[in-house]
Amino acid sequence: MGRKTFESLGRVLPNRKHVVITKNKDFEIQNSNVEIVTDIKEIEKYINQETENFVIGGATIYKMLMPYASKMYITKIYEEFDGDVFFPEINEDEWSIVEREKGVKNEQNPFDYEYITYVRK
Ligand SMILES: NC(=O)c1ccc[n+]([C@@H]2O[C@H](COP(=O)([O-])OP(=O)(O)OC[C@H]3O[C@@H](n4cnc5c(N)ncnc54)[C@H](OP(=O)(O)O)[C@@H]3O)[C@@H](O)[C@H]2O)c1
Repeated sequence: MGRKTFESLGRVLPNRKHVVITKNKDFEIQNSNVEIVTDIKEIEKYINQETENFVIGGATIYKMLMPYASKMYITKIYEEFDGDVFFPEINEDEWSIVEREKGVKNEQNPFDYEYITYVRK
């Protein structure tokens, strides 16, 4: 994830390794589950591994790493929102939908939404 996304989380999430990308060589987090990467080449070791590694944004990181992704787990909310950062355009010629599940609406989730899984063609 990008440094801004990491900061927007406000904490280190439990039970998973975080790889945070920043250009700031002084950026430090004292937590053994957080690796700070200042050169994008350092994430090459996480590409094409047996285990799944997830790119969780934000916009700049999605755009930069999209060419390396083989699968996307998208939650599509059928509502319009204001925003200033955006997920890259999905080129439907490059991706196939392999799973599609309607989300459950409730008090916390009042809009229509779907979980859509894409794999690269
Ligand atoms: N809805 C969702 O699913 C979702 C998911 C993720 C994020 N978000 C939201 O998106 C927003 C953040 O997105 P964003 O696109 O503004 O920021 P971002 O991608 O999270 O972080 C951008 C930062 O990443 C670092 N970076 C980017 N490219 C780099 C490179 N080539 N080498 C080294 N470091 C690099 C830079 O950090 P430095 O400035 O420290 O150098 C840059 O400022 C937040 O509001 C977050 O809540 C939403």
